[in-house]
Amino acid sequence: QTRNVAVIVGSLRKDSYNRKVAEALIAIAPPTLKLRIIEIADLPHFSQDWEANPPQTVVDFRNKIGENDAVLFLTPEYNRSIPGVLKNAVDIASRPYGQGILMGKPAAIASASIGATGGFGASHHLRQVLVNVNMPTLAQPEVYLGTIDKLLDDKGQLSDERTLKFLGKFLAAFEKWINIHLPA
Ligand code: FNR
Repeated sequence: QTRNVAVIVGSLRKDSYNRKVAEALIAIAPPTLKLRIIEIADLPHFSQDWEANPPQTVVDFRNKIGENDAVLFLTPEYNRSIPGVLKNAVDIASRPYGQGILMGKPAAIASASIGATGGFGASHHLRQVLVNVNMPTLAQPEVYLGTIDKLLDDKGQLSDERTLKFLGKFLAAFEKWINIHLPA
């Protein structure tokens, strides 16, 4: 069974390493996992004032996530946590209360950093957030890609064999996880 997976990249940087990892995951995904990036750059800062009447960008963003069975998060680490833009996107998609489009969708997290710890702190802060959104989040394998800048080739792409093999295992585990939570 084919599953559609929304990919959310927590960096707005043009040459984002996390986006490169997302692109590598998209390239190696099995045909039964359709991954597509949903952009967060144009989202406004969340305000409860517009909960009853949200801006069109917010409505569109929620609808795009709603078209998917699961969500894959790629997060950088900013000061040992997730970037504000990513938290903002999750907050937006978690509302209205009790009806957030993320609720119940299986999730997985991967983080990448130029630092050696691979975004571990960000990954686990995000995990805490997703508990409240009631997203069953894949536990293993954990993906913290450290010194990510050293893993890119001269075209700036993630082509390191060992890393790609590991990411392949990660996607296989995520697919199983999705199928456990969303029986056919
Ligand atoms: C960082 N960076 C960083 N890295 C890390 O491993 N732990 C951290 O706590 C931080 N903190 C941090 C704060 C801020 C405000 C910035 C801008 C950066 C470095 C970060 O890993 C690096 O900029 C990555 O390139 C960000 O990911 P993208 O944008 O390449 O996907």
